[in-house]
Amino acid sequence: MSSSISIFGLGYVGSVSAACLAQMGHRVMGVDVNPAKVEMLDSGRSPIIEAQMSELVAENNKACRLHATDDANAAVQGSEISFLCVGTPSLPNGKLDLSHVEHVAREVGTALKHKASHHTVVLRSTVLPGTTESRVIPILESSSGRRAGIDFTVCYNPEFMREGSAVADFFQPPCTVLGAQSPTHLARLRELYAGLPARTFETNIAAAEMAKYVSNVFHALKVSFANEIGTLCKQLNLDTETITQIFTSDTKLNISPAYLTPGFAFGGSCLPKDLRALTHRAKELDLTLPLLESIIPSNAEHITRAVDAILHTRKKKIAILGLSFKAGTDDLRESPQVQLIKRLLGEGLQVQIWDQDVSLGRIAGSNRQYIEDVIPHIGSLLSTNFDEVVRSGEVVIVGSKSVDVNQLSSQLLPNQIVIDLVNLDPSRRPAGVRTYEGICWKLWKSSAEFRHRDPACNTQRTPVPADGLSH
Ligand SMILES: NC(=O)c1ccc[n+]([C@@H]2O[C@H](COP(=O)([O-])OP(=O)(O)OC[C@H]3O[C@@H](n4cnc5c(N)ncnc54)[C@H](O)[C@@H]3O)[C@@H](O)[C@H]2O)c1
Repeated sequence: MSSSISIFGLGYVGSVSAACLAQMGHRVMGVDVNPAKVEMLDSGRSPIIEAQMSELVAENNKACRLHATDDANAAVQGSEISFLCVGTPSLPNGKLDLSHVEHVAREVGTALKHKASHHTVVLRSTVLPGTTESRVIPILESSSGRRAGIDFTVCYNPEFMREGSAVADFFQPPCTVLGAQSPTHLARLRELYAGLPARTFETNIAAAEMAKYVSNVFHALKVSFANEIGTLCKQLNLDTETITQIFTSDTKLNISPAYLTPGFAFGGSCLPKDLRALTHRAKELDLTLPLLESIIPSNAEHITRAVDAILHTRKKKIAILGLSFKAGTDDLRESPQVQLIKRLLGEGLQVQIWDQDVSLGRIAGSNRQYIEDVIPHIGSLLSTNFDEVVRSGEVVIVGSKSVDVNQLSSQLLPNQIVIDLVNLDPSRRPAGVRTYEGICWKLWKSSAEFRHRDPACNTQRTPVPADGLSH
C-alpha cells in the first residue's frame, strides 16, 4: 500500500530515505531549509554524492513520486507520515546540539495545529535516550495544541545506513528498530517496513534511541581495537593480515554475541594476565595504546560498582553465592568474586560464601596459593550448605550462573535484598523478594508489553551455553 510521506532534512539520511521510500512506491516530499538542496531534489538531482542516488532520484522524480519543497506546512498537510532527519551535530564541549531537531519539531507541530487527519511523526535523527519524550514531544504538543498518542503519533526509528553504501543498507538494513510509547503506535511504520528483509525490534522510545548509540560506539571501539592491535603487530614485526584473518574467523568467541551480555567483571587465570603482558610489552616498545590499557581499570571499576551497590544497602550480613570466576570451575585465580569479598571484609562486613565447585580441601597449586594470599581465612567463610548461606545474609549476592533458582527462591525471605552480578536470565530470577537488583542491567518494565507483541524480536537475550562463554 502506497503512503504519502514528508521527509524533513535532505542530508545523507533524509535524501537516501526519500529516494528509497519513493522507489518502494510511496509518494515522497522532501523538505529542507537549504534552497539549493530543495531545488536539486525537486528537479531530479541528488543533493548528496552517494552510490545509486543519482539514478534513484532521477527515476522517481520523473515518475512523480519524489519532490521537494521548503514549505513545511504544505509538506505536513500533504502527507500522513513525517520523518525528521535533521542534523544533530556536537557543540564545542561535545554536548549534542538539538537546535535543528527542536526547530523542525516546532515547524511540524505548528502545521499539525491545522491538520484534520491523523499524522505520524517519526524522528530518525540520532538523539540521546529520553530526548524524544522530554524535548520533541513537548514541542510538538505545545506548538500544535494537541496531545501525542491521541491526536497524533510519535515514533523513533534510528537509521543504520553507512555513507558509501547507504542505498544498499536502506534496502538490506542490519536490523529495523521501531520505538514508541505503545505498540499500537507502530502500525504505520510496521506496514512501511514490512517489505524490508531485516529483523525488526519493537521497543520503547528510549531503548530505540540508545540502540543507535550502542551500535555506533561499538563500531568505533572495533575500529580502535583493530588499529591498536595492528600497531602492536607492526612493531612486533608480525603479519597483521594473517593475525586479523585468524581472529575474525572465530565466529564462536570473537565475532559473536559471546562476552557481550552485561554481567560481572572478567577474571580467571588468563584474561587479566594476558592483558597485562601485552600492554606491558607495548610500553616496552614505547607504544601508547589507550584502549587496551583502559581495559584492566575498566574491569576494576566494575568490581567497585558491586562493592558500592552492596555498601549502599547499609546491611552488614552478606551471603555470596559463587566464588570462582566462572560457573562450573574451581579456579579462584583473579576471580572478581574473590576481589569483591576481600573488599567487603575490609569494609567490616560479615560474609558467608557458597560455591558448589570450590572445596578448599581439593584445590591445590597456584590456585590454592592465590586464595590463601588474598583471603587467608577463607576456610571459615566458605560453606557447601546453600540454604544456610542464603539464610545468613541480609543481602544475597548472586555471583554464579550455577545457582539453583528454585532452591534460592525457597530459602529467600521477602525482606532480603538480592543483588545479581551475573545477569541471570529473567526466567531464572528468584521469585518472592521485594528488592532484586542487577549491577549493570535493568529490565524496563513496560518492555514486556512490546516483547509480548513480538516475542521473537524484542529484548532478546543471548543464551549462555554451559561451555562457559560468560565472563
Ligand atoms: N550520515 C550518516 O551516515 C548517518 C547515519 C545514521 C544516522 N545519522 C543521523 O541522522 C541525522 C541526520 O544526519 P545527516 O548526515 O543526514 O545530516 P546532514 O547534516 O547531512 O543533513 C541535515 C539536513 O537537515 C537540514 N535541516 C536543518 N534544519 C531543518 C529544518 N528545520 N527543516 C528541514 N531541514 C532542515 C539541513 O539543511 C541539512 O540538509 C543525524 O542525527 C545523524 O547523526 C546519520
